[in-house]
Amino acid sequence: MKNLINYKVKGKKVLFRADLNVPLVDGAITDLSRILAIKSSIENLVENKNKIFILAHFGRPKGEVIKKYSLKFILSPLAEILEVEKIHFLKNLQEENIDKKIDEMNPGEVCLVENIRFEKGEEKIDWDFAKNISGLFDVYVNDAFSASHRNHTSIIGFAKYIPAVAGNHLIKEIENINMFLEKSKKPNLAIVGGSKISTKINLLNNLIKQFNCLVIGGAMANTFLLSKDIKVSKSLVEKDLVDLARDIQKKAIQFNCKIILPLDVVCGKSIEDKEPTEFDINDIAQNYMILDLGTKTTALINEEIKNSKMVLWNGPVGAFEYKPYDKATNEIAINIKINANKFGINALAGGGDTVSAIKNANAEDGFDYISNAGGAFLEWLEGNQSPGIIALRENNLS
Ligand code: 3PG
Repeated sequence: MKNLINYKVKGKKVLFRADLNVPLVDGAITDLSRILAIKSSIENLVENKNKIFILAHFGRPKGEVIKKYSLKFILSPLAEILEVEKIHFLKNLQEENIDKKIDEMNPGEVCLVENIRFEKGEEKIDWDFAKNISGLFDVYVNDAFSASHRNHTSIIGFAKYIPAVAGNHLIKEIENINMFLEKSKKPNLAIVGGSKISTKINLLNNLIKQFNCLVIGGAMANTFLLSKDIKVSKSLVEKDLVDLARDIQKKAIQFNCKIILPLDVVCGKSIEDKEPTEFDINDIAQNYMILDLGTKTTALINEEIKNSKMVLWNGPVGAFEYKPYDKATNEIAINIKINANKFGINALAGGGDTVSAIKNANAEDGFDYISNAGGAFLEWLEGNQSPGIIALRENNLS
């Protein structure tokens, strides 16, 4: 795979795919990591006097121009973080507009293109669109690992027609995640939470093959408990997946992977209930729902963390957006940090909610690597190669 070290990109017209799909609350960006992620590649391309056109999406406007999804709001933080005086802006990918902008720009300058998902040709893979646009450029760089699981034109289309190069952040994501999967130090531990098994079936089936111990938390653990005939009262369950939960547990035995399910839980009468009650798993009272892990379970997980050399974490273990049901998730984040600092365990985390939980707990420095990808991180852990990475690998144009 070409990258910015083994393939010199100098004095070229560059199409650069970034992921600037940043979280916004009341119009303010709450996490800048996706902008920071492209800094290293952009610096390289600026230094080498390229004309750089950043392509990115924001939200899901599905081929329509919708004002609230405009990327204009990101121009000023982008200029500040990239430390460039000026960022040009291109309102669409009409060929005459691109030509005009290329002429206007000096070598080493950057132009942000309006939300690529405003283009009708983006989400359905339009090879003609890809061919026409890439014909105006010399090189395509993909630095958007977190969007590379999408079969979209700006992810796989341009790589068919012009040399395609992996950006520095994309390489960093793949190397770090692979280190935990392929070169994992044993004993290793995976902690998987979140609300639904249905979105994580492939993930669980893959992790039991590679990890010595798998903790299952979050609402998805409820279906596993039900599969062991535990009465989970009003808790959220996926009844149709009970057999699948049994099957995963059976397979885990074959692969010698210990599965840890909740021994005790923190419940409320509803998610808004501010007075949590802790129950042993066999004694959950009627009218209660499981919303977090209990003290014994959290202690057991902390013990497993201490006994592991590598820990991978995806998904909060409780309803962490609803205080006080963030307690076990916060404790796990803090414990990973303590053990990383004390015993040098390696830790990797990814997924939007997990990253917010780690930030809430101020535990970022306990992790060797925190991926800024959500769906792409999960698919990579499932063992699927992202279409965007395949396109980069298969590109042999120079
Ligand atoms: C993300 O936020 O995970 C990526 O930007 C992909 O966005 P999407 O799920 O809208 O394709």
